[in-house]
Amino acid sequence: MNILLIGSGGREHALALAISKSPLLTKLYVAPGNPGTAAIAENVALDQADHRNIIAFCHRMRIDLVVIGPEAPLVAGLVDELEAAGFPAFGPSKHAAQLEGSKGFTKDLCRDFNIPTGAYERFTAAEPAKAYIRKHGAPIVVKADGLAAGKGVIVAMDEAEALAAVDMMFSGSFGAAGAEVVIEEFLEGEEASFFALCDGEHALAFASAQDHKRVGDGDTGPNTGGMGAYSPAPVMSEDMSARVMREIVEPTLRGMKARGAPYKGVLFVGLMIGAQGPKLIEFNARFGDPETQVMLPRLEEDLVPLLLACAKGKLPAGPVKLKAQTALTVVYAAKGYPDAPERGSEIRNVDKAARLTDILVFHAGTKLDGNKLLANGGRVLNITALGPDVRTAQQRAYAAIDMIDWPGGFCRKDIGWRAIAREHKAE
Ligand code: AMP
Ligand code: GLY
Repeated sequence: MNILLIGSGGREHALALAISKSPLLTKLYVAPGNPGTAAIAENVALDQADHRNIIAFCHRMRIDLVVIGPEAPLVAGLVDELEAAGFPAFGPSKHAAQLEGSKGFTKDLCRDFNIPTGAYERFTAAEPAKAYIRKHGAPIVVKADGLAAGKGVIVAMDEAEALAAVDMMFSGSFGAAGAEVVIEEFLEGEEASFFALCDGEHALAFASAQDHKRVGDGDTGPNTGGMGAYSPAPVMSEDMSARVMREIVEPTLRGMKARGAPYKGVLFVGLMIGAQGPKLIEFNARFGDPETQVMLPRLEEDLVPLLLACAKGKLPAGPVKLKAQTALTVVYAAKGYPDAPERGSEIRNVDKAARLTDILVFHAGTKLDGNKLLANGGRVLNITALGPDVRTAQQRAYAAIDMIDWPGGFCRKDIGWRAIAREHKAE
């Protein structure tokens, strides 16, 4: 099979690595890819927004499957256009990608199909939104309806902050994404992510993970795309995973089918696990970054038939075969991230670290200048380690990081701390 993978982050390097191991693969192209994917596939300079050019490439290279990493091309309808041109694609249609593209769409689906989530209301003007906040009080959560690169959510601990968030969103700070606002009940508990593969009709539980969104140690400072993650999430017991499938994933698939938008691809379920069980915080219509960098290294079967089954229907009954080991990844970011990452600093000894047993180094924002590796983005590398428990995986990941010589980079020193505290308690 010839496969085209769209994207350029650590998630795509992890996907490319798993796909490259498939006996079914003839040739893998990654567009645009990064220096990590270049080592295991052929990078091609295609613009993910130029759907016509992508389809022309698929014709030229006789592509059998297109795998889409990021959300923007999904929400822009790339899957619909590929399928109309006869190319199977892994990912939801434009309509189904509204599960990520519109928080209001998702909340209405939850209401109509009895999916557990926080109480909410949708608003298109500031005054009624403020009245709702005054009525319900803080803490309360204010969300821009559309895609806002992870920045459209304000968890307001007091009323004034919530009112200010409403003004900020309706003032156009988030462009079209903020033209509508969802105000939601504050949920308490432990956050976890759960991933299910879907073929429009059926869902197959894939894996769980937890990430660290804040830039600083102890989960402090501004939010980022994710500074590290581990899989599995200890809070996601078998019983909890089964509840999430039954109470959230399966009704979502039924609801999407009833809405005329059957959901195919991976459903990324952002959860709050509280006293009453799992509640939905949000859906994403794609794999997580950096969650993918800890889930795929645990996969013990060929990824390609699973991706193909999502695209074409007929997912196997499962379960997916995963290593019992824990995987933990630390994001190595350029100084200045998330506000203004410095570009161009040199990174040495990545290959040395990548040769360690139980270590995988995934590239994200890197570029090659001759044979020099340079930082070229915010999140630059992901150092993933496997181990028998979170603590061992963490030690291995940081030992590998210590071998990398990159004065222009920084990472959190405590990825996995919550899970390690749980392991200590269990001892
Ligand atoms: P989202 O982009 O919807 O995942 O929100 C970003 C972050 O805001 C989540 O990871 C949570 O930490 C937090 N958050 C979102 N919604 C809620 C909620 N209803 N209650 C508490 N925290 C929330
Ligand atoms: N790590 C969170 C995300 O991929 O959205």
